[in-house]
Amino acid sequence: MTTTLTDNAVTFSVTHNPNPASAEARAKILEDPGFGSYFTDHMVTVDWSAAEGWHDAKVVPYGPLQLDPAAAVLHYAQEIFEGLKAYRHADGTIGTFRPEENAKRLQSSARRLALPELPVEIFIESLKQIIAVDADWVPDGVGETSLYLRPFMIGTEAFLGVDAAKEVKYVLIASPAGPYFSGGVKPVDIWLSEDYSRAALGGTGEAKCGGNYAASLEPQQEAYANGCKQVLFLDAESHTYIDELGGMNIMFVFANGELVTPELSGSILHGITRKSILQLAESRGLTPVERRVSIDEWRDGVASGAIREVFACGTAAVINPLAELRSKTFTIPAAPDTAGEVTMGLRAALTDIQYGRAADPFGWVVPLNS
Ligand SMILES: Cc1ncc(COP(=O)(O)O)c(C=O)c1O
Repeated sequence: MTTTLTDNAVTFSVTHNPNPASAEARAKILEDPGFGSYFTDHMVTVDWSAAEGWHDAKVVPYGPLQLDPAAAVLHYAQEIFEGLKAYRHADGTIGTFRPEENAKRLQSSARRLALPELPVEIFIESLKQIIAVDADWVPDGVGETSLYLRPFMIGTEAFLGVDAAKEVKYVLIASPAGPYFSGGVKPVDIWLSEDYSRAALGGTGEAKCGGNYAASLEPQQEAYANGCKQVLFLDAESHTYIDELGGMNIMFVFANGELVTPELSGSILHGITRKSILQLAESRGLTPVERRVSIDEWRDGVASGAIREVFACGTAAVINPLAELRSKTFTIPAAPDTAGEVTMGLRAALTDIQYGRAADPFGWVVPLNS
């Protein structure tokens, strides 16, 4: 039987996992979960078809999806995803950070990939549903642990033709995450990709779709081979201006008090951490500036001391100070105050809000448990 969802009636059926992880097994995983290696006992699925709209919202035991080998996602990469975290607060609240922003970004990714837009209410309710059954999987929050939430959407229609799928599945899985930096926040060296672009104007750079990440794997291998973990991409047209890293946005702290980040040019992801830091910066007396930044400005700014700190930002690491930029042809040394007061102050301010250790003047934290 199909249960059609409307904006006013979002009901999820719940089938509990008959074989959940034992309390001991779960505790062992939570001692050192790493990132993305373990999954909770349940997942959420919601189906969509052109004929019925969104229907059959379910909480089910975590397990393999059944897909027809002709499913659209397997051939034409009709896939989008999101990433956000659930944080356990000292008062027992399990909160998440700006989930409406993720819901809206999933909708805009969906528009670009010709997938249906999941209503914001269903997205937020799916987060609450997984926490209702898997709350014990949310780590204690000590040392920046969290439950990483991965909503995604795939074209499931079995049809070998390049066309928008008329059958689609939204899925939410959850994975306990250890601290991104064990043993303290460390600046990292990054690799500048001179041969590859991440996204061009009119492409899918603003969408959070799997294909963008598939295309970043080869330059990432190059980065690893050169002792770097992350890749920096320049604009595809002129190879002059900084776009972003493979999985993070980038910011520069100037000696004049400006916090500068590449403008949303049409080819970079609208990061929620980026947006939040720009808001926080203003309240901390910095001047947030969104404009083009060239690689030459970075090199000259570090040399002259005009650029004091450089950092990357995103949900996973929050803020990651950057050290040296390496490329095949040149190197830019770490900015003089890297991992300095501004970077670390913004990082502390943001994580304190996320973990409920500080007031939340912007109303960013949304409780997921009742
Ligand atoms: C390409 C890319 N840029 C930026 C970000 C940062 O976005 P957010 O702050 O929303 O996690 C991410 C991570 O999701 C990303 O994958």
